[in-house]
Amino acid sequence: MPVRISSMSAIEILDSRGRPTLRVQATLADGRSVRSGVPSGASTGSREAVELRDHDEKRYSGLGVQQAAANVNGPIAEALTGRLFASLDQVDDTLRELDGTADKSRLGANAIVGASMAAAQGFALESGHPLWRWLTPDGVTPRLPVPHFNVVNGGVHAPNALDFQEFMIAPIGAPSLPEAVRAGAEVYGRLRAVLAERGFATGLGDEGGFAPEIALPEEVLALLVHAISDAGYTPGRDGVAIALDPAASEFHRDGRYVVGGESLSSEDMIDRYAQMIDEFPIWSIEDGLGETDSEGWQKLTGRLGERVQLVGDDNFVTNPDVIASAVRAGIGNAALIKVNQVGTVSETLEALRVCRESGYAAMISHRSGETDDTFIADLAVGSGCGQLKSGAPARGERVAKYNRLLEIAASAPEHPFGLPATHG
Ligand code: PGA
Ligand code: ZN
Repeated sequence: MPVRISSMSAIEILDSRGRPTLRVQATLADGRSVRSGVPSGASTGSREAVELRDHDEKRYSGLGVQQAAANVNGPIAEALTGRLFASLDQVDDTLRELDGTADKSRLGANAIVGASMAAAQGFALESGHPLWRWLTPDGVTPRLPVPHFNVVNGGVHAPNALDFQEFMIAPIGAPSLPEAVRAGAEVYGRLRAVLAERGFATGLGDEGGFAPEIALPEEVLALLVHAISDAGYTPGRDGVAIALDPAASEFHRDGRYVVGGESLSSEDMIDRYAQMIDEFPIWSIEDGLGETDSEGWQKLTGRLGERVQLVGDDNFVTNPDVIASAVRAGIGNAALIKVNQVGTVSETLEALRVCRESGYAAMISHRSGETDDTFIADLAVGSGCGQLKSGAPARGERVAKYNRLLEIAASAPEHPFGLPATHG
């Protein structure tokens, strides 16, 4: 159903790190309104669409987004309002042409993605279907995804000595979404107690996971297994499994990987992961190697691709063309999907299509800087990919997404939960 937007505007709001970001609001011809909150990453891939920041050091240390807001209020609103759009593709094409750069740096990927997400919701509203339903492509079965709860934070998301960025628990074996959420919250609660018993601080990192002063990833993994068992669950794919996002680009320097003070080659790093997989119930590793280490990624995929999911984030940047060439090169077997990384909803849906058609898995993801916007929960269900990561089962901006999943599960209980049969 075509959509006519009668007004669109943006204001500067705060994200979960207390940094400025955008809230975009749009009004449809019939007076109903929709809005979006724009997320922002900290460990970004070098080829991501570019956020526009003001660089005025007197405001928010240069991080203000007044210019991006002005771009929504000015040229973007002018291009999108009053016209009848037949499809979201048409809206997003208009945004891309208006920007005119390959990386969306002129108007700002933050301005563009906020407008695109608001427009997508406008189309959903007009269709009379919930957003997740509107986002479901023909021939795809909506699925309630396995939530991947990031319960220990390191890397650039926490001030501790831990080099690996994310340690997630994934209740793959849960019988339903509500039971998966419950498992995540119960293990998180147990983990807090386990850390406290051992004298570790239980302060939180940017995504709501604990940020204990531990340097070795294996030590964290042992604590996770302990907390999973202690909470009454089976560690592993039949119960609660573990997913890692080392975000290795951040500790990849001069061709070496520095983990816990040790300098490792790509091969050493791959050996290290192989040992971890032998010892701990890890089912997925994202950004196990740096974004520039393509040769290493090919070796990693050859060695471990049959045993675990290998997710490309920094190296794939949700870009359909980049993912397609990674498929040809035999790099990874899954893609992380972040709407603001590529900058429009249409291109995100295209990236998901490339994954489906290539037999690659996909995991929908939040950013470390978030708002209360729950768009990605609907996207996770509609895409049918079966996986969502949105941080810890704590902190408002993280639980907003999990709570949205619980709402969808309650309203559409007929939909399957969990990983699609083709992977896992
Ligand atoms: P970011 O990290 O949002 O800080 O970029 C998330 C990730 O690396 O997956
Ligand atoms: Zn990542």
